[in-house]
Amino acid sequence: MNRPVAPQLGAVHNPILVALDVPDADRAMTLVSRLAPVVGGFKIGKELFTSAGPEIVRRVRAAGAPVFLDLKFHDIPNTVARAVAVAVRLDVQMLTIHASGGLEMMRAAAESAQAAASQAGVNAPLLLAVTVLTSMDSAALGETGCDTNVGRQVERLASLAVKAGIGGLVCSPLEIAMLRQVLPSRIQLVTPGIRTGADAGDDQKRTLSPREALQAGANWLVIGRPITAAADPRAAAEGIVQSLG
Ligand code: C5P
Repeated sequence: MNRPVAPQLGAVHNPILVALDVPDADRAMTLVSRLAPVVGGFKIGKELFTSAGPEIVRRVRAAGAPVFLDLKFHDIPNTVARAVAVAVRLDVQMLTIHASGGLEMMRAAAESAQAAASQAGVNAPLLLAVTVLTSMDSAALGETGCDTNVGRQVERLASLAVKAGIGGLVCSPLEIAMLRQVLPSRIQLVTPGIRTGADAGDDQKRTLSPREALQAGANWLVIGRPITAAADPRAAAEGIVQSLG
């Protein structure tokens, strides 16, 4: 089983993971150097990873910050297992896979994470399953041949992920309460779609504030633009930390 334990954050759990949604390493590292002292870690997604490669993971780790590698692996079990092992050797603390890849794929990922971590002498990362992308509604799901509604499909894939030994899930703010009712409490929930109220309207439609999301049962908050697009990103991050008070 995956340890549902996150990055070493010192005595106080800082749940804020900043999404480094920037196109190059220089911009990413400018944010990391400003924000590392005040946040819990950084999310590296497909844009930055495709641009800057594994070296960006090494650089963020060298700055002393935990890394959430959000590449949403979805492939045959052997390929996902091997990619997870490489990510573990890069010493990431969290990484994502698609639950829709199936039970066998998720089990292969979980086993590979454990094996690679003990071989490398590092802590196993928290494996997170992505259920239904929040960009999909029930009609879009139906077009893929999945004739159920989004809520039921999220619950179904979440249960499958737990059965596979996955330690956490990525979920929308509005799914937290439902998932907390049906999942074991050891399962960690990581939630994007966080807005502070001070932000200008953007493409996130279903949002909660940082405090509301934690109260609903989230363990980790992925926050991008409310911090990275602020005039003073560090002050914005500090303001959010204080709001959790
Ligand atoms: O800038 P913002 O706070 O909206 O960034 C949220 C981050 O979380 C982005 O990296 C986005 O891709 C990611 N995300 C999301 N909604 C999901 C899954 C991931 O916003 N359902």
